[in-house]
Amino acid sequence: MTQHEIVRKEVPTFYFIGVTTGKSSIMKVFPLWMKELGRPELLMEGVDLKIHDQPEAYRQAVAQIKHDPLSLGALVTTHKIDLYEAAKDMFDYFDPYAAATGELSSISKLEGRLEGHAKDPITAGLSMDHIVGENYFGRTSGHVLIFGAGGSTVSTVLHLIKKESAGDRPARIIIVNRSQPRLDRLKEMVDSMDTDIELHYICNQDPQRSDQIMAGLPEHSMVINATGMGKDTPGSPITDQGQFPINGIAWEFNYRGELDFMHQAERQQASRGVRVEDGWVYFVHGWTQVIAQVLHIEIDQPLFKRLSDVAAATRK
Ligand SMILES: NC(=O)c1ccc[n+]([C@@H]2O[C@H](COP(=O)([O-])OP(=O)(O)OC[C@H]3O[C@@H](n4cnc5c(N)ncnc54)[C@H](OP(=O)(O)O)[C@@H]3O)[C@@H](O)[C@H]2O)c1
Repeated sequence: MTQHEIVRKEVPTFYFIGVTTGKSSIMKVFPLWMKELGRPELLMEGVDLKIHDQPEAYRQAVAQIKHDPLSLGALVTTHKIDLYEAAKDMFDYFDPYAAATGELSSISKLEGRLEGHAKDPITAGLSMDHIVGENYFGRTSGHVLIFGAGGSTVSTVLHLIKKESAGDRPARIIIVNRSQPRLDRLKEMVDSMDTDIELHYICNQDPQRSDQIMAGLPEHSMVINATGMGKDTPGSPITDQGQFPINGIAWEFNYRGELDFMHQAERQQASRGVRVEDGWVYFVHGWTQVIAQVLHIEIDQPLFKRLSDVAAATRK
């Protein structure tokens, strides 16, 4: 068995396990939030790992948290599945979402136990609720079109399926993905659930065809870019000629990068009444949920609003 190198921290430390963590807005926001939460002594430390890194790299990062008393926990991005796979035997507890999806975005400790949580279904849902409000689909009869079938789409679809009130569920969700496997994985999950939402799975990456699919949506529909295009990779899943639904909502899941899809939608704000949202609220929910878990605090509505305002003030 490999011996892990454990650094004894002198101050309480919160880790961010990602790829290019230094570029994230959280580096600016975190100290301000800790001040707001009355925990200014807490430090943020980025852990940059390669995409699909060696299992031992994930185990080392987990061991540091598990064995050093002042290493409190971590938010995990990008490596959610790989870290779970590499280090699942090191954990004492997984929440039901982590156990069901085989991925985790939060590492925390409670009474000596190491815990893993998958927060994405909650944070994607909170962000969707923030954007559409109550009874949006009942009121407007809009549909949802999502480009991309990765983890964030799975979480969004799960959230909509689980909505109790019929007015909070769209009649139809169309998912367009570049290749087939993730569509199959998503379909398998949806088929195991009971839902009255009509789901359509389309394997496509031709932007002209994506334009046509978008043109078929009714007014007030929501179009989501969950492909990472415009941040992780260049471009947009649609062309500059693609027409967003009249009075619809365009939601780009990212808040940094070229954001081509978002700019395409912005050009139709006036002419087609399109409302444009970026991934900022998603970012704030993602982080506050994990911070609450790691620090074992409750972040209620007023506190969330305060933290959002503090974060918003750091945006240009
Ligand atoms: N603001 C926030 O806090 C926040 C939170 C969550 C996610 N995000 C962002 O949202 C994006 C998606 O996240 P994720 O975790 O779901 O990513 P992911 O797992 O990488 O999934 C992206 C999916 O998009 C598909 N795709 C790529 N190009 C496409 C195209 N032209 N047309 C159709 N499908 C295409 C990929 O297809 P294949 O299956 O063929 O690879 C893949 O399934 C990322 O950029 C992430 O940074 C932001």
